Amino acid sequence: MPASPAGRLDVSFASLKDGGEEVVGLLAVDGPEFGATGKAMDQSGDGILSRAAKAANFKGKAKSAAEILAPAGISASRVILVGGGDAEKAEENDWLMAGGAALAKLDTHKAKSASLIVEVAGKSKLAQHEIAAAMALGAYLRSYKFDKYLTKKTEDNEDEPKPNGLKKLVVHCSDPKKAEKAFERQRAIGDGVMLARDLVNEPANILGPVEFAERAQVLEKIGIEVEVLDAKDLKKLKMGALLAVAQGSPRPARVVIMQWNGGKKNDAPVAFVGKGVVFDTGGISIKPAAGMEDMKGDMGGAACVVGLMHALAARKAKVNAVGIIGCVENMPSGEATRPGDIVTSMSGQTIEVLNTDAEGRLVLSDIMWYVQDRHKPKMMIDLATLTGAIMVALGKNYAGLFCNNDDLAAGILEASKATDEKAWRMPLDKSFHKMIDSKNADVKNLGGRWGGACTAAAFLERFVKDKETPWAHIDLAGTAMDAPRNDINQSWGSGWGVRLLDRLVADKYEG
Ligand code: BES
Ligand code: MN
Ligand code: ZN
Repeated sequence: MPASPAGRLDVSFASLKDGGEEVVGLLAVDGPEFGATGKAMDQSGDGILSRAAKAANFKGKAKSAAEILAPAGISASRVILVGGGDAEKAEENDWLMAGGAALAKLDTHKAKSASLIVEVAGKSKLAQHEIAAAMALGAYLRSYKFDKYLTKKTEDNEDEPKPNGLKKLVVHCSDPKKAEKAFERQRAIGDGVMLARDLVNEPANILGPVEFAERAQVLEKIGIEVEVLDAKDLKKLKMGALLAVAQGSPRPARVVIMQWNGGKKNDAPVAFVGKGVVFDTGGISIKPAAGMEDMKGDMGGAACVVGLMHALAARKAKVNAVGIIGCVENMPSGEATRPGDIVTSMSGQTIEVLNTDAEGRLVLSDIMWYVQDRHKPKMMIDLATLTGAIMVALGKNYAGLFCNNDDLAAGILEASKATDEKAWRMPLDKSFHKMIDSKNADVKNLGGRWGGACTAAAFLERFVKDKETPWAHIDLAGTAMDAPRNDINQSWGSGWGVRLLDRLVADKYEG
């Protein structure tokens, strides 16, 4: 199990005895109902916890909390009652959310360390140690912050204590050994999510295509085989579409192939393909200035693939998986691709580039082709911040799912439900293909005024080599960055999709 990067919340597990942290969080489920430890605390303090709960109208509802000065006999300064909601109905994801909400409450003080007592009286769907591990992952994810460029860290300012100073969380439960074991897997997933967030949040001056590839190469440390193709290799491979996007920037393209072989020897891999446009100016079809800074996140698909590969390897998933990302920068310049240019993709299909801002599909067309040609995957999912149109259709809480196979679509939607990373199925249809037929080339990269997310998906479908291969395209333009914050994510770059796809692999492709 690789150690988590420095700066992340230090999560550990201990028995239900008082561990002497600065603040104590005490889980109470609907009622409010305390576990045995909470009940004992309440009794030894003359019912102070139940009286405080009553005074604050705290009923153990999810996300709610009530705070009291710690009663005598407890080393902490405060006890914070944190709501767990309906324990009988709560699924794993609900406990993640409860853990995230709890962390937020524990982190509103100057405290550097906190305890969280996780003990559920009565029935629950998960075992105690699973609840503890799930809450710990929620807290771990909630604690993420991207503050590497703040030269004055907020917690250093003693006069004005701000949240997010918490460094250490000790989760107390009845079987800490088991919880720790369960958390190994959760931490692997959490680190994958936060790796994706880090990549999306990183500005493009720091994270160019070359640097992105270097970050992906770090995955070698956890047993992933990483191969980096440079511009010369890409030219040899005839990736004319991807290179057409890259040619306007002085920073050369990279394609990174990551292989995790945790499955049976001759089992065909599952493939994940990510759009890694480190910055999208639009190219010659340049974007308006307002909001262009968000285009540092146009590599959200690639970040998700890298985060997913981390998660799979770190938890030693029993699967063969290949991840491929196309890292380029879309810039206008004297050498940039022009509207009207016709380029030849690796597949041999020619593409008329009518709008240089529809660059993501050009990048994907070549790496999708490559991964199918070389790795013969049994299934392929591409992830891309591909269109503004998907946000017009679905908003920023749902990703768009396009899929040529109903079983795969059902699996993705199931995993989406379980992780609450929301996705909604969109159509793939002949009529969209008509809209991208070109008089001058095999296909054009622009579909006209309507159905922009759908014509983009249709374009990608032309690069599914074997039409029998189950393939899904996920447009995460709305969800990868600046999506509505929630109990387990307060970051601009959300890391959306890592948990969903990890879950899909675990449920459908491992074993
Ligand atoms: N990267 C953008 C899509 C995008 C927009 C992602 C806003 C996240 C937030 C993509 O490359 C793009 O520019 N798409 C164009 C396509 C159009 C020119 C056919 C769009 O959606 O406007
Ligand atoms: Mn664009
Ligand atoms: Zn783009």
